[in-house]
Amino acid sequence: MLLTVALANLLVICSSELSDYPIPKDFMLGVATAAYQIEGAWNEDGKGESVWDWYSHTFPERIDNAATGDVACDSYHKWEEDVALLKELGVDHYRFSLSWSRILPEGTINYVNEAGIEYYRKLLQGLADNNITPLVTLFHWDTPRPLHELGGWTNPLIADYFAEYARLCFERFGDLVQNWITINEPQTTCVQGYTEGIKAPGYSDEAEGVYLCAYTHVLAHAKAYHIYDEEFRAMQKGRITIVVDSMWCEPASDSSEDKEAAETEMEFIIGLYANPIYNGNWPQVVIDRVGNRSLLEGYPRSRLPEFTKDEIDYINGTFDFFALNSYSTNYIYHQIDVTESIGNGSYLLDSGIGAKVNSTWKSIEGIGWVNDVPWGFRKLLNWVHNHYNKPDIIITENGWADLTGDLQDQDRIDYVAGHISAILDAINEDGVRVFGYTVWSFMDNFEWTNGYNEKLGLYQVDFDSPDRTRTAKDSAKWYQKIIKDRCLVDKCQDASL
Ligand code: NOJ
Repeated sequence: MLLTVALANLLVICSSELSDYPIPKDFMLGVATAAYQIEGAWNEDGKGESVWDWYSHTFPERIDNAATGDVACDSYHKWEEDVALLKELGVDHYRFSLSWSRILPEGTINYVNEAGIEYYRKLLQGLADNNITPLVTLFHWDTPRPLHELGGWTNPLIADYFAEYARLCFERFGDLVQNWITINEPQTTCVQGYTEGIKAPGYSDEAEGVYLCAYTHVLAHAKAYHIYDEEFRAMQKGRITIVVDSMWCEPASDSSEDKEAAETEMEFIIGLYANPIYNGNWPQVVIDRVGNRSLLEGYPRSRLPEFTKDEIDYINGTFDFFALNSYSTNYIYHQIDVTESIGNGSYLLDSGIGAKVNSTWKSIEGIGWVNDVPWGFRKLLNWVHNHYNKPDIIITENGWADLTGDLQDQDRIDYVAGHISAILDAINEDGVRVFGYTVWSFMDNFEWTNGYNEKLGLYQVDFDSPDRTRTAKDSAKWYQKIIKDRCLVDKCQDASL
């Protein structure tokens, strides 16, 4: 009896920490996935090879349990069941990505794989029939292998190939899509894929990889934006932007050095990709730090490519809204000055910061990149609002990773509830303009080099079964109710107040 009372009190305390602002009726609540992580059918019906097909087949030792996306959740064959589950969940929108190699097997526009077009048209029609708004990402890390062999995202010519692919997608899918994302999380691709070498394509160019990659990404994005704007917008009346990702960087102390370090790190993580698009040019602190260090290291020019004036103007303003992925928070502290530790050029030293987490923040042992820190998320929303001229923001990814995939996933419910609550407070108390939230992920899937070990889905997928059976976790049932009730607590404030 005592225990029951104690438990009841605890539940009240937990739920009283959540915001009682109602979730606005037109606030979009959805879920997300990406092609390589769920589709499977890696070589079926004329699909070409992507850099992740190549990477997972060539370097099995770099992926937990030598997993691949060859079958993944088999969504290529099970898309009708997926649409039915989305319907059951009641989501307003579904964010998914197109596989460039399924549509253009060589990556180039000279040969279009009609079977790939047909697959995505069927999926889009299925969503339309069920009143689910698609949020379509053109590129979610799966570069066609032939383009990777030209240097991938370190080669600025890829921007033109991407633009041609984007035009084709607007032509062939634009009647069914109003919300476009050009590119997903360039920061992750550029840092982990081209600098640290821990994701495909596994390049470890610490000095220049990230900057060449960032340059090509923002250019590619801008080209696709202009094509949409000039050739399709009038007819299709949609909107388009890029997805950037960031944790929140909290200064580790009140010292001005740590405060400056945290601000600098924000510019290296998110500003490198967002600033050219939302404000114009690279962030000044990045230009200064990389430029100064490059000279001291003996380079004749900055390792960060300089934009021409024309490029700055061409890229600046290429957005219709702000799409943000975020999972966590770090404490940031000052580590080195710009003139210290000069040796070979290194992105990892350019920002001069150190990062740590607080051991009291909730996390799962063995998963280092997600801590449950909703207050950090609220600060991040405010930072984006203030730095990028009060844009309309949608959270295109946020979610909780565990290692068990259990159906009883209260930690995921707590995490998602806390983050939606932070959004409601940011909207109502800070004036931040957030119009949607997307859980990563709809279902457990191929979590890149973590294979199928890290689970982030609202639906469990049985990867041992040829059917890839999907089962709703507690979080799916909870999210379904939240989408319906538009309220995180027992009783929300009156929406009209
Ligand atoms: C970022 C990526 O966009 C997505 O592909 C990945 O699975 C999640 N975050 C979780 O790591």
